[in-house]
Amino acid sequence: LWTPAQIIEDQIARVRDQVGDRHVLLGLSGGVDSSVVAALLHKAIGDQLTCVFVDNGLLRKDEGEQVMETFARHMGVKVIRVDAEELFLSKLEGVNDPEAKRKIIGNTFIDVFDDEASKIEGVEFLAQGTIYPDVIESAASKTGKAHVIKSHHNVGGLPETMKLKLVEPLRELFKDEVRRLGLELGLPYDMVYRHPFPGPGLGVRILGEVKKEYADILREADAIFIEELHNADWYHKTSQAFAVFLPVKSVGVVGDGRRYEWVIALRAVETIDFMTARWAHLPYELLEKVSNRIINELEGVSRVTYDVSSKPPATIEWE
Ligand code: XMP
Repeated sequence: LWTPAQIIEDQIARVRDQVGDRHVLLGLSGGVDSSVVAALLHKAIGDQLTCVFVDNGLLRKDEGEQVMETFARHMGVKVIRVDAEELFLSKLEGVNDPEAKRKIIGNTFIDVFDDEASKIEGVEFLAQGTIYPDVIESAASKTGKAHVIKSHHNVGGLPETMKLKLVEPLRELFKDEVRRLGLELGLPYDMVYRHPFPGPGLGVRILGEVKKEYADILREADAIFIEELHNADWYHKTSQAFAVFLPVKSVGVVGDGRRYEWVIALRAVETIDFMTARWAHLPYELLEKVSNRIINELEGVSRVTYDVSSKPPATIEWE
């Protein structure tokens, strides 16, 4: 019989058995999988768990604070927050190619994480939020069966220099099971049922070169969009929704002058498996409200568009 409570009990016993009184390190991203691992391991081994949360400067609005609030303050989990915004942005300077940006963000993450890990003494295990579909996907790509379209860095990001043993308590579970585990462990509903967010974050939602100015505008535009989706009860009817920063200047009339300012695209999709997707038929009133708010509240944006492309051929992300 499968109940979340039983899986948790079972996994707690297994983890305690594997780890004993030794120490475990976890890269906490704020996503569902690593969050559930953090909550589970905290319950199993308490202070023997240390989490490292890397702020790469490409996170959504208030994301870092929310992670610290939930885990550090609320649950008492040991979390080290690393502010690495400047490092990531400097490495991304002048880089336009999406796959190059992904590699830089992935590698920089590993460097920062590795560096932080080496400062913690006596760690013997690395915990990862690997879930069953990840196991299948990476097995398939190793044998060349899967067409690897993008260099996702969620799996297999184990630094060579770290000879740590893996703790992967979610390895046999599907996403919906992981979510139910999360709720059972007391994680907030909104965290457990949050839309997926790519590892490279806003780095692939700013087309071309990433700049702090762009990231700051995009973060605000995205937050407005998500807030209004919640207000209109549309957030959970979409599978993924976000704003994209287009580094093109479009004209807007302010007072008696013409001003050339940036464009924000909105993307919202409905999908079961993320392999194919249909653009969400959001109500016009909702789109109107979001557009008005973004243009009125954000300096530097004069135009908002809505993406009506299906996947395939368009992908969900713009890069
Ligand atoms: P696409 O854009 O390929 O996206 O239709 C399908 C799903 O994958 C996510 N995605 C990524 N996730 N690293 C990630 O961790 C990436 O580089 C990446 N690129 C796309 C995307 O957000 C969507 O959920």
